[in-house]
Amino acid sequence: MISTNRSIFCRSDLNWTQSEPFPTNWLEKNNRFLGIIANVASNFRSHSTSVESQVKENSFENIFIQGGFNVKPLVIETIEENQDLLRTDDRKGKEYKVEINDGSNVNIDESSSEGLSGPRILKSTHEREVSEVEKEAWKLLREAVVNYCGNPVGTVAAIDPADKQPLNYDQVFIRDFVPSALAFLLKGERDIVKNFLLHTLQLQSWEKTVDCYSPGQGLMPASFKVRNVPLDGRDGESEDVLDPDFGESAIGRVAPVDSGLWWIILVRAYGKITGDYSLQERVDVQTGMRLILNLCLSDGFDMFPTLLVTDGSCMIDRRMGIHGHPLEIQALFYSALRCSREMLTVDDSTKNLVAAINNRLSALSFHIREYYWVDMKKINEIYRYKTEEYATDATNKFNIYPDQIPHWLVDWIPETGGYFIGNLQPAHMDFRFFTLGNLWTIISSLGTNKQNEGILNLIDDKWSDLVAQMPLKICFPALEHEEWRIVTGGDPKNTPWSYHNGGSWPTLIWQFTLACIKMGRPELARKAVALAENKLSVDQWPEYYDTRYGRFIGKQARLHQTWTIAGYLTSKMLLDRPELASTLFWNEDYELLENCVCGLGKSGRRKCSRLVARSQIAA
Ligand code: GLC
Repeated sequence: MISTNRSIFCRSDLNWTQSEPFPTNWLEKNNRFLGIIANVASNFRSHSTSVESQVKENSFENIFIQGGFNVKPLVIETIEENQDLLRTDDRKGKEYKVEINDGSNVNIDESSSEGLSGPRILKSTHEREVSEVEKEAWKLLREAVVNYCGNPVGTVAAIDPADKQPLNYDQVFIRDFVPSALAFLLKGERDIVKNFLLHTLQLQSWEKTVDCYSPGQGLMPASFKVRNVPLDGRDGESEDVLDPDFGESAIGRVAPVDSGLWWIILVRAYGKITGDYSLQERVDVQTGMRLILNLCLSDGFDMFPTLLVTDGSCMIDRRMGIHGHPLEIQALFYSALRCSREMLTVDDSTKNLVAAINNRLSALSFHIREYYWVDMKKINEIYRYKTEEYATDATNKFNIYPDQIPHWLVDWIPETGGYFIGNLQPAHMDFRFFTLGNLWTIISSLGTNKQNEGILNLIDDKWSDLVAQMPLKICFPALEHEEWRIVTGGDPKNTPWSYHNGGSWPTLIWQFTLACIKMGRPELARKAVALAENKLSVDQWPEYYDTRYGRFIGKQARLHQTWTIAGYLTSKMLLDRPELASTLFWNEDYELLENCVCGLGKSGRRKCSRLVARSQIAA
């Protein structure tokens, strides 16, 4: 932790204008920010399918342009010159979206989408009295705000009045802040979100080591804390410092893979809700985004387009048997790629990166749609699988033994509807239903429209299992007995139907609401919000609930948990303003299915996955 790095953040005039010169020592350490010309042209449609044959070369590494100090670091005029172009493109994007609307009956008020340069926080079309519960929630959310050098930069995870040992709950978690950010944005308060995005961006370039090993440069911390420390030799004087946790102090030393993905998703949401696209156009924001993408897209030993991660690398941040290719990470990865594709500045230095993103998007959606989806028909197929097939065109590609179909699933899977399984590895399908991952496959259109509808049908059908007394189960069912002992390592916090092991997490409501609005089923979200509303305030906004039907406040649940509070508020506002909700999700992108570099389609020897993907849509 280099103190010079820290102190430069703390400036009295934190207005984040780009024309400000950076302190020299910072420039020396961060010369990656220099010499990059901001050539803003966010016409994501025009480059969306420009698949390059040299994608594999990973030449998008050349974002580290070594510039001199004479190079103007931030070209603000270029951004301004291109404003008109940008707006036109954005509108084109909108028209396109309407064309391919997947049938959701979102009530989009087109007039409210105009005026892209100004704040887009509009009066609610559904004016209503703010309830006492909402007022209380707002009060608590504001109390959770953390200031850094006098400016709001985030919200702490929880302020439990009775908690004597907050552990790291007094920190600002990247993932926990997302619903807070949306609540503030939807209310028209953008500064806290902008500050958060820019400060976390600075933390990304922190020099970090875990036992003398340095993780990749694009890594975003799981959380950070603002500390006030006395200044050496200056009696009575102190300064604020930001202290990030990249996993080096986290319980289990888990890598926060989801942080960077959430960060990208939030940058886009900021632009969409406020209409202020200048943030995403900034050179440092563009560079931060590229560093995250570099980490995610770098070549490894992988045979699949999915991201390979360790256990505990996302919301479930301790051992729960989700190492490998967990759905949650894949769905957030896909969403972050879709965001980046819209936001990345296109020039010679990024064209390979853009091509790599396009390739990955289509390969990933094909893979998840084809291999993670289960419904009655698919489970019956697996039940009759032959094993040990050695062939490129094997039916049972992952050598799944039919015995793996768990007993609970045989009776549980409904006649209609289905879901994406939690994980897929050689000879292993994790059939548990993971809520966050399934919701984000809907929100990002990682699933086909039919599959996305199927997930909501399943949630509706299995309401008493997945929602029960408190929305929503983090996963279903719980691991019990020997399986719990082996998979969790005997974790006393993750006992059956508690915490990550089948506990109910009210924060998931905002994502459920978004998915329901997208699929034209807001009534389902209203039902869940009403359930939560009845209990959350009385129970003091717990972090999670325990038991099979979510009846008890969680054994070790913090009270006044911020993302519970913010998730509830965000849901309420999204339901009030479905037209704003519609800026936060995506429809199917048919262009992604058009081009292919694999050449398989032409040779006819094997099926090209993209052609198959196209037929998935038609089905
Ligand atoms: C727990 C949760 C994690 C969350 C953190 C702070 O560790 O598992 O997802 O970010 O608490 O609320």
